[in-house]
Amino acid sequence: MTKVAIIGAGPCGLSTLRSFEQAEKKGEKIPEIVCFDKQDDWGGLWNYSWRTGSDQYGDPVPNSMYRYLWSNGPKECLEFADYSFDEHFGKPIPSFPPREVLYDYILGRVKKGNLKDKVKFSTTVTNVIYNGNNFEVTYRDKKDDKSSTDVFDYVVVANGHFSVPFIPEYPGMKAFPGRILHSHDFRDAEEFRDKNVVVLGSSYSAEDVALQCHKYGAKSVTIGYRHNPMGFKWPNGMKEVFHLDRLEGNKAIFKDGHVQETDAVILCTGYLHHFPFLSEDLKLKTGNRLYPPKLYKGVIWQNNHKLIYLGMQDQFHTFNMFDCQAWFARDVIMGKIKVPDNSEIEKDINKWVSIEEKLENADQMIDFQTEYTKELHTLSDYPKIDFELIRKTFKEWEHHKVENIMTYRNKSFSSPVTGSVGPKHHTDWETAMDDSLKTFLDQPKK
Ligand SMILES: Cc1cc2nc3c(=O)[nH]c(=O)nc-3n(C[C@H](O)[C@H](O)[C@H](O)COP(=O)(O)OP(=O)(O)OC[C@H]3O[C@@H](n4cnc5c(N)ncnc54)[C@H](O)[C@@H]3O)c2cc1C
Ligand SMILES: NC(=O)c1ccc[n+]([C@@H]2O[C@H](COP(=O)([O-])OP(=O)(O)OC[C@H]3O[C@@H](n4cnc5c(N)ncnc54)[C@H](OP(=O)(O)O)[C@@H]3O)[C@@H](O)[C@H]2O)c1
Repeated sequence: MTKVAIIGAGPCGLSTLRSFEQAEKKGEKIPEIVCFDKQDDWGGLWNYSWRTGSDQYGDPVPNSMYRYLWSNGPKECLEFADYSFDEHFGKPIPSFPPREVLYDYILGRVKKGNLKDKVKFSTTVTNVIYNGNNFEVTYRDKKDDKSSTDVFDYVVVANGHFSVPFIPEYPGMKAFPGRILHSHDFRDAEEFRDKNVVVLGSSYSAEDVALQCHKYGAKSVTIGYRHNPMGFKWPNGMKEVFHLDRLEGNKAIFKDGHVQETDAVILCTGYLHHFPFLSEDLKLKTGNRLYPPKLYKGVIWQNNHKLIYLGMQDQFHTFNMFDCQAWFARDVIMGKIKVPDNSEIEKDINKWVSIEEKLENADQMIDFQTEYTKELHTLSDYPKIDFELIRKTFKEWEHHKVENIMTYRNKSFSSPVTGSVGPKHHTDWETAMDDSLKTFLDQPKK
């Protein structure tokens, strides 16, 4: 029997488990599957942890999410085609839910069957080599501190790429009297109440961590961009300036001459694609981009078609794109989709990479990833979902952010699966301090 190892039980690993479950329900004979996750429960980044640094076993903590994190894109863009929000919550819910709500939704789809039995928790994959025939996968059961090696025909790498922070150094950091941290270790904006905060970066973490600090009472928030400013209309108390030059004592000195006294520097400088468990010949080497190299259809490793990477792209689309990837990968593993010869693969990868390299703005990037996801969607029996509506929703969302970065999360969109429209949330995001599932779902009594 074919044996498949899945590394990671985050959204991508769960998409893979679900894809096989659906095939089995249709009466197909599925491979033997073992999924490994180094955490003690599933859900990946959505499984919030207060921990930073290493866990109780000395293993690096993968979590990068923080308290009060709300979805930064409309939930309608990430909805599962085979499990709608309406089905999970029994009613339409607002378009921008907090983390706990999305976590509940992700797990709702996989909880019902026996998928959890296929996951070895608190188990870190430490080594994967290809012996010319199959993969030897070594893993450590952290609770028992015991290493074992098993042999698999296919390996699905679904360990995420927003867990290992990229941490640059700027002059003056060693002598800085305040706190320096990466967004990976940011957990609670309350810590920065009444403080002057400098945030470095110009992408989603910089945007949201800066907004969080402002929302929860920081005295000032100064964002230092390196190449392009985000350029939103920031509220009073927030500003965006050009690139940090150095720290001098508690002063942050920027290259545009701006000087800001600061208590904390939060590095929102992105993450590394990090695969310490893979041998060199199997290792994807890439920055955070929309079409990483050497991946046929964005998933199959060009040099070894039995190695599959999920979710390694920079992400506009998330959960339903992961599903399209997982359904495609499943059909490759089950022999229903034939991987073409090397020259065809090369041509296909080059086509996508050359389009990706010419993208200039967010609308074009949304179009690119929508086209990619739509193509994958046609290749498997992943259920019907309206990707054209998702494309339109993403673009409206981008424009809402430009209009007002403080209010874009108060907007509503319609579902690409059921067509229902997300109701307006009872409290505007800016004043909604409690991010619990209960508060989000319960309409407060008037
Ligand atoms: C701060 C932050 C906020 C985000 N917010 C949103 C959002 O609002 N909406 C959205 O759609 N997306 C968001 N994302 C994007 C996020 O990447 C995806 O939603 C999703 O979590 C990716 O799923 P994944 O399975 O690829 O990776 P992950 O969620 O990272 O899961 C990977 C899993 O692999 C496990 N693992 C890692 N290494 C090993 C190993 N060696 N052995 C065994 N197990 C291992 C980890 O424990 C983890 O459970 C956010 C990302 C970050 C960092
Ligand atoms: N739900 C939410 O609200 C939420 C919140 C946070 C994050 N996220 C998600 O988390 C994921 C990761 O986002 P991310 O912003 O952490 O990573 P990212 O998108 O890869 O961006 C990395 C940023 O770091 C900057 N950078 C790198 N090196 C730098 C340096 N030496 N000095 C200054 N800036 C530097 C880059 O700037 P250059 O452009 O100049 O290179 C870029 O702006 C995304 O999927 C995002 O959606 C979601």
